[in-house]
Amino acid sequence: MEKIYTVGGRRLEGEIALSGSKNATLAILAAALVAEEGQTLLTNVPMISDVMVMSEMLEQLGVPTRFDRNTLLIDATNLQAHDAPYELIKQMRASFNVLGPILARFGAARVALPGGCDIGARPVDFHLKGLEQMGAKITVEHGYVEAFAPNGLRGADIYLEFPSVGATSHLMAAAAIAKGTTRITNAAEEPDIISCAKFINALGGKVSGAGTKTIIIEGSRPLKGARFAIDSDRIEAGTFAVAAAITGGDIYIRGALEAHLEPVSAKLIDAGVQVQFDVDGMRVKAKTGQRLNAVAIRATPFPGFPTDMQPIFAAMLTLADGTSIITETVYERRFKYLNELARMGADCKTEGNAAVIVGVDRLTGAPVAGSDLRATAALVLAGLAASGQTEVSGLQFLDRGYEAFVEKLSGVGADIWRAGEPEPGDPQLWARSGGRAIPVSAVTEDQAFCSG
Ligand code: EPZ
Repeated sequence: MEKIYTVGGRRLEGEIALSGSKNATLAILAAALVAEEGQTLLTNVPMISDVMVMSEMLEQLGVPTRFDRNTLLIDATNLQAHDAPYELIKQMRASFNVLGPILARFGAARVALPGGCDIGARPVDFHLKGLEQMGAKITVEHGYVEAFAPNGLRGADIYLEFPSVGATSHLMAAAAIAKGTTRITNAAEEPDIISCAKFINALGGKVSGAGTKTIIIEGSRPLKGARFAIDSDRIEAGTFAVAAAITGGDIYIRGALEAHLEPVSAKLIDAGVQVQFDVDGMRVKAKTGQRLNAVAIRATPFPGFPTDMQPIFAAMLTLADGTSIITETVYERRFKYLNELARMGADCKTEGNAAVIVGVDRLTGAPVAGSDLRATAALVLAGLAASGQTEVSGLQFLDRGYEAFVEKLSGVGADIWRAGEPEPGDPQLWARSGGRAIPVSAVTEDQAFCSG
């Protein structure tokens, strides 16, 4: 099994250039199916296995995808198949969002239900309820959603009981080619939603209000493929900012956008880290010879502190001076990684939906196992600060969301390397193959994992 090894103790210094946003890319790849004419060219696409799995899904639907490094060409004009198979949906829950665009275009779709995963049940009831309000007849049987809308979808007033990122982008895409106007209230406000709305408008769609709680979409057809640049990944930016903080380092993160990172930079500053933005990125500098301050964090939907950053901050706070509290309000169980941090000497426990982290003077390297994408990244960062060697498994999760993670960290001085062989079907092979996926059959049952 392939693992990441680190020998801690080095201050990270230098510059890291961010990749494109995983979560914006995945929402946009599903939304690209509403372009009934012309080709779509996406630039600054991250070369990560979630994108490879999603491109495999599009290929299986009759939508050719071609990579040229971080550029991806998609032609959705010949979208044919209306079936999205479980073998792919189980790899990557965001692929479920092909349902609405297929249904809006053809009046029928059959898509496997995504399963739950290590951080929660991850149901899709908000997605289905919104599509029903737009006129779809939906049945759920044998693990598949069958949806019919023989007269196409129509605009509706949709209230989301929780500002779901996936449901917001999914319903926005379906509404883009529905008949009439759709209003989504209590919508997600994440930057990924703004990116997806900008993309739909680039296709000729009419979306307004993205980034606020109320989004208005005027349906229009046909939408045409367009060229679109993906924004940088804000969670990757936060991850490398914490890498600087936890090692007492000084890193310039090129491509970081201040508007995307306010909740993260505010908490870094509370922790005693210096953060400076300029037009091209952000500089993150730890105060030398000073321990970090303990902080209280509440992970909530944007513009709150992002849940995807809570495991990463937890790693940093294990070494802070005092007791930190991290409350998780988005997922029901996203603290499994604390057990692994405890194996490195962290003093941490959960109390209900909160983590209580009492800062210690040092962590010691150990073999640890990541259980989801951000948990695995958090363990690598802890290894950068621990004394001795740390061995991190769970790279099948890490490679879903971080492009060239080891290379970027070693580029700023980390003593870090990968060794061992990827398992057959390991998503890392997708990323290395530049997009030609390993046949789905090669992915064994136990490698199926929930993606973000
Ligand atoms: C997106 O997941 C991100 N993934 C996640 O990132 C992120 O953690 C999450 O948004 C919250 O910000 C992608 O964009 C691909 P949600 P998504 O719908 O859309 C519940 C990462 O590490 N819910 O906002 O699945 C759900 O169970 C990943 O990059 C329902 O109950 O998140 C969860 O508790 C992890 N019913 C909460 O809402 C629904 O129909 C938020 O889910 C939909 C969601």
